[in-house]
Amino acid sequence: MGPLAGRRIVLGVTGGIAAYKAVEVCRRLVDAGAHVAPVMTEGALHFVGRATFDALGSEPVQTSLWDELHPIPHTRLGQGADLVLVCPATARLLSDYRTGRSDDLLTATLLATRAPVVVAPAMHTEMWEQPSVAENVAVLADRGVTMVGPVDGRLAGGDVGAGRMAEPADIVAAAFEALGATDGSEPAGDLAGLTVLVTAGGTREPICPVRFIGNRSSGKQGHALAAEAAVRGAKVQCITTQSASAPDYPGTEVVAVETAAEMASAVLERFPLVDVVLMAAAVADFRPVEVADHKIKKGGGVPEIRLEPTVDILAQLGRTRAGSQVLVGFAAETDDLRQNAAQKLQAKGVDLIVANDVSAPQVGFEHETNAVVLLGIDGGITEVPLCDKREVARVVLDAARDIHQANCEQMDDDGADRASNGDDT
Ligand code: CTP
Repeated sequence: MGPLAGRRIVLGVTGGIAAYKAVEVCRRLVDAGAHVAPVMTEGALHFVGRATFDALGSEPVQTSLWDELHPIPHTRLGQGADLVLVCPATARLLSDYRTGRSDDLLTATLLATRAPVVVAPAMHTEMWEQPSVAENVAVLADRGVTMVGPVDGRLAGGDVGAGRMAEPADIVAAAFEALGATDGSEPAGDLAGLTVLVTAGGTREPICPVRFIGNRSSGKQGHALAAEAAVRGAKVQCITTQSASAPDYPGTEVVAVETAAEMASAVLERFPLVDVVLMAAAVADFRPVEVADHKIKKGGGVPEIRLEPTVDILAQLGRTRAGSQVLVGFAAETDDLRQNAAQKLQAKGVDLIVANDVSAPQVGFEHETNAVVLLGIDGGITEVPLCDKREVARVVLDAARDIHQANCEQMDDDGADRASNGDDT
């Protein structure tokens, strides 16, 4: 795995002679393990054929807002990117980006992203020195856009001066820096670039203002997963009923919830932009149909509590998952552990089930330790004997990382097959 494994980069190429050097940038980023989605402007196509980037990128080149199967390609690209890199950037691109104009796929993608943006301008010296261009560059830099180059040197037509695009190695180094990755001699965490959503704790379904239906989940296994994912470089979203004891790492978002319905809406809202879901929470299967406004008093006789089913969050994710997303479910059982877990693996449409026998000593609810068996949809079985919950988290995250990697490779293979069949969109 390269140092940029799991990182998604939109590589924007605009119409300048330096576009040929973007080929080298693309190759280096892919070699470093990044998933590179090339976006070429109409102008760029005059300088380099799309077949070159089709062959070198991780997915087919896109050029237009209107020619992709996906109905809104710019939001898919912009929202899914960890970095948008434009090289070369023409004076037109700088101007459009500065003013928020978005009438082609690349400028629309730039507007639709919250990812860091790196821009490598290239143009003739006269253009580069125009006050309008200088002002655009200054404004963009002020807004946090990273400018690489240009440098002095040979320009198109034999001229020499300022405006030559920075060298590919320097552009790639700027991309690494913007992604917070090292140069590869010291790999960033193996989950860097991934967004991992973890649910933790047991939900509480209110009966009245003082009572609820709950369960014995402490959230410890879910929180161990969140902590382990964070230190290994993932961006973590921890949806938990036990927020007071949730891990507090930079890059970790902790969302406090109480009921199954609250957990469902927090998870479903985030799911489209998440790479891995670890559904460690013990979610209530039923909730009271009516919740009393006031405390139920015992003088009123034995209350009858009618229940209704809650949403099965994991099963819903299993039905709507897309791309390389990985789903991991958990199964706390007291009988027929493997049989029940295998049934949930199929029924919920997940990649992996982590099952434990909560009737065994020191296992599961409220303990610091756990003993689990991992059942994969590929038939793989891994036993993890009694150990610290953090150790269980390590094994689960190793498995989730490998599944994600395999899913990405599968997507790349599918993309390559489409390209070689000439099925270019
Ligand atoms: N789960 C969920 N939503 C629910 C119930 C469960 O997302 N309403 C998830 C849990 O977080 C866990 C997996 O489904 O990852 C299995 O949960 P479990 O309680 O073991 O199984 P159930 O489907 O609820 O079935 P049963 O209670 O009959 O064992």
